[in-house]
Amino acid sequence: MKIFHNKTDLSTHIHSLKAKEASIGFVPTMGALHKGHLSLVNFGLSDNDFVVVSIFVNPTQFNNPEDLKKYPRTLDRDVELLQTISDSKILVYAPTVEDIYENNVASQSFTFGGLEHEMEGAFRPGHFDGVGTIVKRLLEIVKPDKAYFGQKDFQQLLIVKKMAELYKIPTEIIGCPIFRAADGLAMSSRNERLKSEHREAAPFIYRTLKSAKEKFGTKSAKAVTEWVAKQFKKQELLELEYFLIADTKTLKPVKRKSTKKVYRAFIAVYADDIRLIDNIALN
Ligand code: PAJ
Repeated sequence: MKIFHNKTDLSTHIHSLKAKEASIGFVPTMGALHKGHLSLVNFGLSDNDFVVVSIFVNPTQFNNPEDLKKYPRTLDRDVELLQTISDSKILVYAPTVEDIYENNVASQSFTFGGLEHEMEGAFRPGHFDGVGTIVKRLLEIVKPDKAYFGQKDFQQLLIVKKMAELYKIPTEIIGCPIFRAADGLAMSSRNERLKSEHREAAPFIYRTLKSAKEKFGTKSAKAVTEWVAKQFKKQELLELEYFLIADTKTLKPVKRKSTKKVYRAFIAVYADDIRLIDNIALN
């Protein structure tokens, strides 16, 4: 498997593939790969001749320095996992912080039509400026035909689509379904850090989302939101940060239900000091 640690080598190689008319898919990640990431790589491989997987723990999107420090870094294992899918069609880009940011580890500041103020934007100040900065930079380096993002981070997916539109980036941004463990917990690199009792408690998050979906058929968003908060009060190991039902396009919380709109429920929960997010389509 070809592994690149600097952008010049990667660009040169991609250029030579494009000269032979190869199509390039791109899956940006922060590593500690799991089956959710691999599902994106598989979508990429089914659409393209080659898939670039970037593995880079981006410092500018962490609002919590402790979270950045503790984020798992497992490059060798990540490469082994990717090799189980394909050795010749996957290229890994694992840059250093200097390769991406040179001497200035800072975010550009963006406006994404208000999307950046909701949910994760409200609870993680600066997070989406960091995501916008790194994804824009990576798309400019890799210049892929298509890039794949998980609906697990639904707000991120919308923001990246908005960014590609605003900056006229000629890459098609594709959203992929949430990959879950057998017990329903959405796969996440952070799951590895859960203590066993928290890991056992965590499927409660998706179970509650599914019940919320059912209730939303007959009840108001307010009633469902209150019901969810009540369920989490009974859960000692999980602390609800937010649950809300929002319009899928604007991510604005629903005030009055309309049959013409499409809604999703979004949740963030602390299991000990580990923050887990999930979401579900409601209609
Ligand atoms: P990371 O959390 O590593 O996720 C990389 C990609 O995998 C994202 O598009 C994310 O939505 C997707 N993903 C994670 N878990 C998933 C699951 N269970 N099912 C489906 N897709 C899943 O998101 C980031 O990294 C970073 O913000 C990044 C975009 C790489 C910028 O640094």
